[in-house]
Amino acid sequence: MTETVLLVGGGGREHAIARALADDCELCACASNVNPGIADLAASFETIEETDADGIVAFAESVAADLAVVGPESALAAGVADALDDAGVYTFGPREAEARIETDKAYQRRFMAEEGIPGCPDFETFDDMAAACDYIDAYDGDLAVKPAGLTGGKGVKVIGDQVTAAEAKAYLRESDYDRVVLEERLVGEEFTVQAFVANGEVRTTPAVQDHKRAYEGDEGPNTGGMGSYSDTTMHLPFMDPGDYEDAAEVIEAVVDALPDYKGVLYGQFMLTDEGPKVVEFNARFGDPEAMNTLPVLETPFLDVLTAARSGESLPELTFSGEATVCKYAVPDGYPTDPDAGARIEVDEESVGDALLFYASVDAREDGLYTTTSRAFAVVGLGDSIAAAEADAEAALSVAGDRVRIRHDIGKPDLLDRRVEHMAEIRGGE
Ligand code: AMP
Ligand code: GLY
Repeated sequence: MTETVLLVGGGGREHAIARALADDCELCACASNVNPGIADLAASFETIEETDADGIVAFAESVAADLAVVGPESALAAGVADALDDAGVYTFGPREAEARIETDKAYQRRFMAEEGIPGCPDFETFDDMAAACDYIDAYDGDLAVKPAGLTGGKGVKVIGDQVTAAEAKAYLRESDYDRVVLEERLVGEEFTVQAFVANGEVRTTPAVQDHKRAYEGDEGPNTGGMGSYSDTTMHLPFMDPGDYEDAAEVIEAVVDALPDYKGVLYGQFMLTDEGPKVVEFNARFGDPEAMNTLPVLETPFLDVLTAARSGESLPELTFSGEATVCKYAVPDGYPTDPDAGARIEVDEESVGDALLFYASVDAREDGLYTTTSRAFAVVGLGDSIAAAEADAEAALSVAGDRVRIRHDIGKPDLLDRRVEHMAEIRGGE
């Protein structure tokens, strides 16, 4: 029987999900934007806001969907997985209650502390911004200031890195957040481990390192992620295999404490001198990280979804063993003052062996235009990170001059710096 799978979301992450599923099922997709890559792969595509649970259920029923995959956190926070599940469409994505692990950072830290999940930094939560400012004054060391709700990765301010203590306090006073988390500043190298989770089982995928800063050399404001790489192994060059195992144990501990969790659980870790500490959890694939992971997944993603639905054991995963480098092309001025409405050239024929994933582009009759978000990404694959990087760069010749790219992602210089940085941190043990 051919399964009909509904995909919710229209970014690069969802284009990667669509590509992983399209050959094995009838794919139907909906998103607030028309992603030309997904629209090409899908049997039907509807424009629906990702947070419109009723509209998404109606579309799922109209196409007789058997399964659903939810990409963006905004949909999970709006209860789209609950609504689809309740309508009889098994959804690979957590219900709103479990998605709080991402959508409410104050809950997430309390959950970690109460359940004894390893890798939790010191933290306090505040509803009163004046009390939060007093805590900053009294704290011995640097703190990260985090709004409790969703901010697209752009609301966090780290004292001693991006801001001074005085600037952090001004930010708290001016921003009018209902609740913030203040936590110990973690120092080290960041990495991501994403896992498929259902029926209390966990299957982890290779570690990825994203680059949140807008400009080369890790300068500038935080973005949704400018690009990312993974290695031929499960870990990354600056990690030991044991660091990966420690991160996987953290994810397993979360699932033990949340036995009903289903979907992707994404752990963002800081590898510190004391091992991996949790920066955050996400309740979905990362964007860009999905574009590193799904192209090297040899196990059909559909088999993961059907096993999850049936309550059977999840399949053991196999990966191609290729390294990957993903680079996003973003509008000029992104993220602070993005040049939306710029006509961009994307020559699909010229990407060579690399993969092209569309994200937030506006497809008009006369071509593609930028929006305020990341436009498209290329992913190079190879038998080393260097080979994958060269593949990605060759493909970027398609990008034209109306977009900005962090060319340094995946380059040997930057990788060496990460390894040296980690050695310095461990050397200080
Ligand atoms: P988040 O939205 O929690 O992913 O935070 C965005 C970024 O802020 C992370 O990717 C880190 O680079 C940084 N960050 C968050 N929490 C901390 C922390 N406790 N210490 C240092 N950096 C942090
Ligand atoms: N790459 C970071 C995220 O998806 O949240």
